[in-house]
Amino acid sequence: MTDPRSAGRLGHEVRVLEPDELRAAHALFGAALHAAGPVDDERWAVTRTSYAPGRTLGVNLPPDTLAGTATSFGSELVVPGGRRVPMAAVTRVGVRADRTRRGLLTALMRAQLREAADRGEVTATLRASEARIYGRFGYGVASRGRTLRVDAGARFRTGTPAGGAVRLIDPDEAATVLPPLYTRILGDTTRPGPIVRDAGWWALSLRRPRTDAARGIAVHTGPDGDDGFVTWTVRQEGTEFGENVLEIADLHAATPQATSGLWRFLLGIDLLRHVSAPLRPLDEPVDLLLEDPRACRTTGIDDETWLRLLDVPAALAARTWGGTAGEPLRLRVHDAVFPANDGVHVIGAGDRDGTNGPAPGAPGDGPADLECDVAGLAMAYLGDRRPSELVASGWWTASDRADVARADNLFATAEVPWCGTFF
Ligand SMILES: CC(C)(COP(=O)(O)OP(=O)(O)OC[C@H]1O[C@@H](n2cnc3c(N)ncnc32)[C@H](O)[C@@H]1OP(=O)(O)O)[C@@H](O)C(=O)NCCC(=O)NCCS
Repeated sequence: MTDPRSAGRLGHEVRVLEPDELRAAHALFGAALHAAGPVDDERWAVTRTSYAPGRTLGVNLPPDTLAGTATSFGSELVVPGGRRVPMAAVTRVGVRADRTRRGLLTALMRAQLREAADRGEVTATLRASEARIYGRFGYGVASRGRTLRVDAGARFRTGTPAGGAVRLIDPDEAATVLPPLYTRILGDTTRPGPIVRDAGWWALSLRRPRTDAARGIAVHTGPDGDDGFVTWTVRQEGTEFGENVLEIADLHAATPQATSGLWRFLLGIDLLRHVSAPLRPLDEPVDLLLEDPRACRTTGIDDETWLRLLDVPAALAARTWGGTAGEPLRLRVHDAVFPANDGVHVIGAGDRDGTNGPAPGAPGDGPADLECDVAGLAMAYLGDRRPSELVASGWWTASDRADVARADNLFATAEVPWCGTFF
């Protein structure tokens, strides 16, 4: 990238890396995350396929040629109502430990946001290693997940969905079965937050050389064919034989029956103490399936999707709105990076089904009912946080409580947002 705006006062410059620089960028990122050593040739042969062409940025800081990097791949995000908007999936962000706190990430992020917006991507999302890094660039937490620890062998209540058949498959079969199955599940989902997975994501997820941990993959079949899958690893937790913990890596199901069937299968596997499930949907009803709900404990709730709205008018137009038709809401949004997002946006329920609100266009001026910055808007956009929570915590401001209640109704979603794809 030769855009002079990307040249910093320290002489650093952000540019798109050439294909033969990607391995060095990957090694830099790995070292920043304290990963053990650079990847070997066999692993790199898989990993390189997950670098989308032309989407990896590097920043130099003389005399080094590469001091920091960030990449992304193109995807789509399901928004409330089920439409999908183009999304940059941002990942592998790192700055050399001896070059941090000099503004290099800031330069990378600014360039990356501009590039994504220029490509027509309406949103960008990422997973944050630390919660204090990305807010300053307009990212806000838009979905969260809870970590479950469930006693193996926990009995299911009578009357819970029985589920269908579950079969184990190997990684080779998984490479042909899981991507189209995930796409089918995604096509039917009504939950906001899931994303489209590209071939590079699957290659890395399924084809990476085996680690020492035992791995398993299973598919659930219901009345209409395959409708769910799970992948996991097992590690020994205690010193005794059989003191193992199965950790779910990836579980997606199209129906409550498939969800129940997969959990029933996992909890019935022999020689396990617990099933651990990081970052599951906040509303996944595992405890409700069990005779003893305390056999399922929530050990943590963490941020999942960090969302950056790049094109606020397009994002507001893409989602549906809750509540009933009424006076539109005027929301003033502040965005220090993209002036086109800055101003008063008119949103409303429109028709009773919430699909036909006032067509949002370029933001206007004048008085507003509520006010927030673009990160605060991201926190409500998929339905994770209610505007009233955001007003109560100072993320949003409002002068009239009736407007806050109206905003709660408008932003409400039927299902809790959750992505379920780590990248
Ligand atoms: C996180 C990381 C990329 C930041 O890079 P950097 O070049 O030091 O960031 P910048 O200098 O542009 O920092 C911009 C601002 O963010 C703050 N900041 C950056 N990283 C921070 C962190 N980890 N915790 C708190 N604040 C942080 C800086 O203090 C600075 O604030 P200031 O402008 O008020 O001084 C770098 O520290 C790193 O590589 N960390 C390890 C790998 C990692 O966690 N990567 C992210 C994966 S999601």
